[in-house]
Amino acid sequence: MSSRRDFIKKSAIIGTGLAMSPSLSFGASDSFKGKKVKVALIGVGLRGTNHLNNVLLRDDVLVSAICDIDPRRIKIALDQIDKAGEKKPKVFGKNEYDYRNLLEMKEVDAVIISTPWLWHTKMAKDAMLAGKYTGLEVSAANTMEECWDLVNTHEQTGSHLMILENVNYRRDVLAVLNMVKQNVFGELVHFRCGYQHDLRFVKLNDGKSAYGKGVEFGEKGISESAWRTQHSLLRNADVYPTHGVGPMATMCNVNRGNRFMSLTSHASKGIGLHNYIVKHGGKEHPNAKLKFKQGDVITSTIETANGETIIVTHDCNLPRPYSLGFRVQGANGLWEKDGDRMYIEGESKSHRWDDSKKWLEKYDHPLWKKYGEHAQGAGHGGMDFFVINAFIESVKRNIAPPLDAYDAAAWSAITPLSEASIENNGEPQDFPDFTRGMWVKRQPYNWIKDTY
Ligand SMILES: NC(=O)c1ccc[n+]([C@@H]2O[C@H](COP(=O)([O-])OP(=O)(O)OC[C@H]3O[C@@H](n4cnc5c(N)ncnc54)[C@H](O)[C@@H]3O)[C@@H](O)[C@H]2O)c1
Repeated sequence: MSSRRDFIKKSAIIGTGLAMSPSLSFGASDSFKGKKVKVALIGVGLRGTNHLNNVLLRDDVLVSAICDIDPRRIKIALDQIDKAGEKKPKVFGKNEYDYRNLLEMKEVDAVIISTPWLWHTKMAKDAMLAGKYTGLEVSAANTMEECWDLVNTHEQTGSHLMILENVNYRRDVLAVLNMVKQNVFGELVHFRCGYQHDLRFVKLNDGKSAYGKGVEFGEKGISESAWRTQHSLLRNADVYPTHGVGPMATMCNVNRGNRFMSLTSHASKGIGLHNYIVKHGGKEHPNAKLKFKQGDVITSTIETANGETIIVTHDCNLPRPYSLGFRVQGANGLWEKDGDRMYIEGESKSHRWDDSKKWLEKYDHPLWKKYGEHAQGAGHGGMDFFVINAFIESVKRNIAPPLDAYDAAAWSAITPLSEASIENNGEPQDFPDFTRGMWVKRQPYNWIKDTY
């Protein structure tokens, strides 16, 4: 996965109208009978314009509306659409609730929501109530009430919600999922994962460029520092669990024959953001006086109904290279991303690691075999192509998405549960059963196919 710095470089190019590769032709489906899917984007910041680029490259999508309260982002998005040779969409964003006018448009089949976290559930609920097929960026919800809101609104309306977790589509993750499905690891026992990404230069900037120097945030910040940093100031919780836990949950069929049962969390002290502010803004800077509530390293352990444990780490305020730290372990062996190594009993030399490369190539997922070359420029090493492809193909068929409202709720619930556990000295917290018992009967999703 490319780093955020690569991502910003790509986004900057996107802003100037990159056509990364020729558009692909996608098959029609029964519900749309060859007609294009009319997509609206709510939030066209850095992430939203990345999604915009990916939908513009498809011949089965028409961008019918965009919404953002920042006119600079609207301009970038409109330039992108113009350079792709597409018609100007309807534009919304005159106030924070103008997205509701967008949702009234008949000419919108599906929406992609890429706004700050506190808007996610509100917008997704409104979109489902308006009958739109809803794609929602990560994390989906901030509180337990919001997690339930997503599930309840989906059930009341019948409108589908897909959590747009791109890491589920990473090439190594899908190859390992393929190995899981072919029982190479045997019965699954333990997972490790997390979001381990030095975001100090994202959470703090100069208010002029997203990755610029500077130690401002909130009203004086720009892009994610305008909203994300507030969560580190006020919450001692794993506020961004889904990149790590999403792929692991899929491997052990959470909400489909398995479920998260309980969690314990612990937080280290929090010194990283303060040190960064002092280093780059001086100890007299007003932000140097703030006490950030979030611990720098937050470690949660989840137990599943089928007896697996999953360790999820949130580590974004200290200097470190990027890693989601995946480990997938079963009765026959394990994969560890850190070290790029694999061990399968009876196949690997006894007590010796294999380089994971040969295993990942052998079990390369059919989707990557088919679309890998096309996906390369799509963002985050290609996985952004696949998550949008899964979304659009599900919309076209009007079927439940691979990553649904129950997944969005269960994965996002880690945030309020970790907060409660940390607050109570690591006391175990129970996950609600968002499927209301249906997890027992729900069949595992068929992941091994080359369509979406
Ligand atoms: N999956 C990934 O790899 C990935 C990567 C980056 C960001 N994200 C997620 O995408 C989302 C957006 O992140 P970003 O980096 O693009 O942030 P950003 O700050 O660059 O963009 C957010 C945009 O939302 C707009 N906005 C805010 N309130 C609005 C409202 N009420 N109506 C309309 N527009 C509104 C802002 O003006 C801004 O342009 C976040 O949830 C983030 O976690 C995911």
